[in-house]
Amino acid sequence: MRKPLIAANWKMYKTPKESLAFLSEFLPLVKDHTASEIAIFPTMSSLGYVIEATKGTNVTAGAQTMHWLNEGPYTGQTSPTMLESIDCTRVLLGHSERRIYAHETDDMVNLKLKAALDHDLIPVVCVGETLDKRQSGLTEAVLRWQIACALNGIKGASCGNVVIAYEPVWAIGTGSVATPEQANEAHAIIRREVAAHLGVSCASGMRILYGGSVKPDNVASLMSQPEIDGALVGGASLQAKSFVEIIRNAT
Ligand code: G3P
Repeated sequence: MRKPLIAANWKMYKTPKESLAFLSEFLPLVKDHTASEIAIFPTMSSLGYVIEATKGTNVTAGAQTMHWLNEGPYTGQTSPTMLESIDCTRVLLGHSERRIYAHETDDMVNLKLKAALDHDLIPVVCVGETLDKRQSGLTEAVLRWQIACALNGIKGASCGNVVIAYEPVWAIGTGSVATPEQANEAHAIIRREVAAHLGVSCASGMRILYGGSVKPDNVASLMSQPEIDGALVGGASLQAKSFVEIIRNAT
């Protein structure tokens, strides 16, 4: 059985003070929730505060990106060792906004995934096609390529904690959510590709989250699909009440 994971990606929103204000409203509302795992990915400047504030709770926190090296002359970067040193347990890798605006390539995502596994950070590897590729009938090719590149050189034995997020670029922040059937089909493609690289048992245990305009009123129909194991939520995770509603409606 794959336990659902509902995660908040706060992107470049919330100061440390705003992040802590969110948590003081949010944590009491979810403290008895056991049906899914809950994770928050705040900005780097809030991450340490969020990690401290969620210690001993059922909520964990992670970084939105990282470098793959442990140290070096790379202005603006944060390393896996640095994340470990603040008790960070999760990291998002290859989000489409990183691919588009920070020019992250598939090879970089692969290096980051290997580094995350070496440092026992639970990675959420993001993949997804643009509207143009979908309209050209290339969704399957794009997803298979992104997964194949990300998993290049990874051994099945180390796949236990890996999470994949399917985030169609055309659905992110647009209000155009994928239909549950479209999302399920994409997740099935991803799972088959994971199986081809890491084996069926690894693939069948791997959580694949859907992200892209998830809201309190569409999460249940997405989660009713057999291949969808959780959600990665942007805009609708910024208000505690709306994120709580998503968590409750998801299971
Ligand atoms: O990582 C989550 C994300 O990209 C989806 O954003 O605002 O469409 O829920 P949003």
